[in-house]
Amino acid sequence: MHASPASPSVIRRSDYRPPDWLVPDIALDFDLDPARTRVRATLIVTRNGDHDRPLRLDGDGLIPLEVRIDGEAATPDQWHMEAGYLSVSLSGSARKVETLVELAPESNSKLMGLYASGGLLCTQCEAEGFRRITFFPDRPDILSRYDVTLRADKARFPILLSNGDPVEQGEGDAGQHWARWVDPFPKPCYLFALVAADLACNADSFVTMSGRDVQLGIWVREADLPRTGHAMQALKNSMAWDERVYGREYDLDVFNIVAVADFNFGAMENKGLNIFNSRYILADPETATDIDYDGVEGVVAHEYFHNWSGNRVTCRDWFQLSLKEGFTVFRDQNFSADMGSHAVKRIEDVRILRAAQFQEDSGPLAHPVRPESYMEISNFYTATIYNKGAELIRMIALMLGPERFRAGTDLYFDRHDGQAATCEDFVLAMEEGGEIDLSQFRRWYEQAGTPHVRATLDHDPMTRTVNLHLHQSLAPTPGQPDKAPMAIPLRVALFDPATGTHHGDELLMLTEPQQSFSFPDFATPPILSINRGFSAPVIIDTNRSQDDLAFLSAHDDDPFARYEAMQQLMVNILVGRIAGQPIDEAAVIAAIRQVITDPLLDPAFVAEAIRLPSEAYLGDQMAHVDPDAIHAAREALQQRIGAELEPDWRAIHARTRAAEFSISAAAKGARKLRNSALGYLVASGAMDGPAIAFVQFEQAHNMTERQAALAILANGDSAERVAALDIFYNRYGADALTLDKWFQTQAFAVHPDTVDLVEELGRHKDFTLANPNRVRALYGAFTGNQWAFHHISGKGYRLVADCILALDRLNPQTAARLVPPLGRWKRFDAARGALMRGELERILAQPGLSKDVTEQASKSLE
Ligand code: ARG
Ligand code: ZN
Repeated sequence: MHASPASPSVIRRSDYRPPDWLVPDIALDFDLDPARTRVRATLIVTRNGDHDRPLRLDGDGLIPLEVRIDGEAATPDQWHMEAGYLSVSLSGSARKVETLVELAPESNSKLMGLYASGGLLCTQCEAEGFRRITFFPDRPDILSRYDVTLRADKARFPILLSNGDPVEQGEGDAGQHWARWVDPFPKPCYLFALVAADLACNADSFVTMSGRDVQLGIWVREADLPRTGHAMQALKNSMAWDERVYGREYDLDVFNIVAVADFNFGAMENKGLNIFNSRYILADPETATDIDYDGVEGVVAHEYFHNWSGNRVTCRDWFQLSLKEGFTVFRDQNFSADMGSHAVKRIEDVRILRAAQFQEDSGPLAHPVRPESYMEISNFYTATIYNKGAELIRMIALMLGPERFRAGTDLYFDRHDGQAATCEDFVLAMEEGGEIDLSQFRRWYEQAGTPHVRATLDHDPMTRTVNLHLHQSLAPTPGQPDKAPMAIPLRVALFDPATGTHHGDELLMLTEPQQSFSFPDFATPPILSINRGFSAPVIIDTNRSQDDLAFLSAHDDDPFARYEAMQQLMVNILVGRIAGQPIDEAAVIAAIRQVITDPLLDPAFVAEAIRLPSEAYLGDQMAHVDPDAIHAAREALQQRIGAELEPDWRAIHARTRAAEFSISAAAKGARKLRNSALGYLVASGAMDGPAIAFVQFEQAHNMTERQAALAILANGDSAERVAALDIFYNRYGADALTLDKWFQTQAFAVHPDTVDLVEELGRHKDFTLANPNRVRALYGAFTGNQWAFHHISGKGYRLVADCILALDRLNPQTAARLVPPLGRWKRFDAARGALMRGELERILAQPGLSKDVTEQASKSLE
């Protein structure tokens, strides 16, 4: 017998067909109650094309209590249920179909559809949550006008919100009230949202470029109102930025944001009613770090920008997800860069890309930016779709330059406004608006994996010519054994070592497997600076010497390239040491000394430049990851740098202490450098290190310094460690977001007992699987702690697998997010690999396992 060619549960991009029926209008009527909510939906459906196929309405866990056609109860021959959908046979070209269902939001632990969180009711529909609320063709190419009436107990749920503009409200019987919202913009159902809550509002307003007044509201628990100022400022800045940079204006009279405590990811761009994980709204100096502040600003901007890149122009199908996500990440990254430092933002973004996306691209879950198939779309909200997707847009913008890029985006928005579009539509608009041929560039959407580029320079003194030889390769990824050459834009400069300068930065297009570029008029060999600004998301291999790298770390005028030279210097030393080929550390210590004593450099940049590569990044540089050797080598180098420059660390730490808190870029930079200095000072082994960290922990007037001190102490074994963890718990235990930091800091601790501590914390009275933030704070952080997670006992793998199995019964989406770290078994030694595979097999053996976890675990074993 032949195995079936395709498992029926696999959805393929090539199977896309336009919908049989459209739904131009939908009216929804909600009787809201946590235990028993009734949803009446009235759909105007129109036949799309000449066919006699039935209307198919997706439903997940729904039972139809009523089905009506044009107001009459439908007869049994007119409809039936199939697995996952309701089929209705209809004649004619336009009909009215009505259904009634009942939901129990308080027992919805998946946090998809309508659910309860901290006493409020809210929704999450992307990607396929709307089918858990009502029967509907749940696909993004169906665009409908929504007319929504919400009814609920007034005392318990005084606030009733949905998409669009509020048009009517009133009182009902028995303490009930109601509100009607109408959204004039046709939208896909994944952008539907409602909230019923008892919340307070930070109200503000914004005047758009055409002079329209928009009412802004950020809704939180009363006690959290003082923590909403940063989010509101970020929202207004985002609205102004999208007008200035893309010419895009907001289009409704109100824009609401609601913060909820239980949320599967960051936030959701529902039309006119963004719903957020509260960690991306709430910020004050006492509880939020600078990273949290930046996260709030970036996510508020991201969701706001979706109003154009996602809502006005949406996706035809979920294979096009990066159309909205990659572009919107690109937009929020540039916004954040404009609000702060371009150099530092680029370094941070590349570090995230390398940590999350490069790992994905080199493992069993590698997939193209536009995937070809999936079992569960929730598993494709990945670093590849989001962050690599953003790099693709960045490359296009680089190749076009700002004016032509803007011409391309103008054409894209104008041409596709009100439509469900594809990645190909975006590329076509860029080609036409930007006047460029992107035929070969399209492979970035098609081929998975991170390209490698080998670069070598040779110099001919006779002809005074320099030749740059480039060689590209792209390893096989699942389903893609053979790859075609990519179009790779590389910004390059050639430095004269005598003067420390270059003759200009050039953009080279590498399009062939091997290609050479010549540069005239070089009397002596120059030093190569390549992939400046990280112009392409590739891995560069060069044969540059430690001396060349030290030169670039002192002289490169491209801040990313300068940072990169520092990183490479450190990587070479660490990888050399692990391989038993010690390289002198003097160059790196001299480079660090130079950077920290240069008064002209931005302290935030200095902190990035002197940062040691993470244990995980070092693992990525090795054929097989040896977590123990990496850990030992990195600790030793950190100790050495700490000790060699101890007086400097003390001086920096003392001088960066600020009397007052400020959230300015300068103040954030000073804190970042202060915390790095403290880290090196404690690593030096200085006797008073833990005491100094403890003083910072106690006296800090902000969470950035307090948590950094706590984290530094948590890596060691001092009495101060125990005291600080206790104090932190007692002071902040009542605030969920801050308590998350207590869990996370311990799960991240580079300490031999971390694996046992995580096991204990999993049984702590404040640990709960019901809150995704808490799960991520403990287990998510732990899987990112290479040395601890990959403990040779296999205990770390077992803990995470146990968590996945328990969580899968409640919340499969969040459970599935913990699987990929176990899937990296090929990168480790045979003993660890066998343990990791064993856990994946144990997971797959659980009866009733979700589609989400099944897909991730089975692909991870291949
Ligand atoms: N569209 C949301 C964003 O702004 C995220 C939705 C994530 N959905 C999911 N099923 N993981 O990025
Ligand atoms: Zn998004």
